[in-house]
Amino acid sequence: MALAGRCSQSAGSLMSALRSMQACRSLTTQTLPDLPYDYSALEPVISAEIMKLHHGKHHNTYITTLNQSYEKYAEAEAKGDVAKMIELQQAIKFNGGGHVNHSIFWQNLTPPKDFEAPSGELKSAIENDFGSVEELSKKFNAKAATVQGSGWGWLGYSPELKHLVITTTANQDPLTTQGLVPLLGVDMWEHAYYLQYNNVKADYLKEIWKIVNWKDVASRYSKAQ
Ligand SMILES: [Fe+2]
Repeated sequence: MALAGRCSQSAGSLMSALRSMQACRSLTTQTLPDLPYDYSALEPVISAEIMKLHHGKHHNTYITTLNQSYEKYAEAEAKGDVAKMIELQQAIKFNGGGHVNHSIFWQNLTPPKDFEAPSGELKSAIENDFGSVEELSKKFNAKAATVQGSGWGWLGYSPELKHLVITTTANQDPLTTQGLVPLLGVDMWEHAYYLQYNNVKADYLKEIWKIVNWKDVASRYSKAQ
């Protein structure tokens, strides 16, 4: 939105302003990212049915609503309707957060056949901060199970404290809202597991560690420092 504002200010006429706004809107339009694997590739941990709905319907809806909210925001901004702009910020946060979080989640996962345990700097950091990978998963699962309603479990990195942190966020709040860099996110919304695990969150959390893409987590950890 800040980009759209700068662009419209630089326009010298109504037509150029409109063209500029259209150009800026196209820069902020989000699209559904392709998965790096097939819908069935995470089985038996996550079923193809869940993945198809989760990626093709849920994630796509966040993106569609986010783009619609952007357009409404641009219209409100053009009219100087500050109250409407503020009203739309919640929809942008929720749907934008849904897009950001799911985009991380897909990359954080890998087919079971490709699973590799953490190694190198990331493994050392995990052992230093939690004792072992097993202890990390136990603490993570205990924390993630406390999410009330809908939210996310996270392994993040604190640039301030310079160590790994296990925490949760509510709804679709991105981890960056807590000043942490997201390394590994686990979707604790019912749509992520209910069709397969019903109400047994603990089983979903126990199984998810079989498909964590530790190479992706290590790459995020490396960039976060
Ligand atoms: Fe989700």
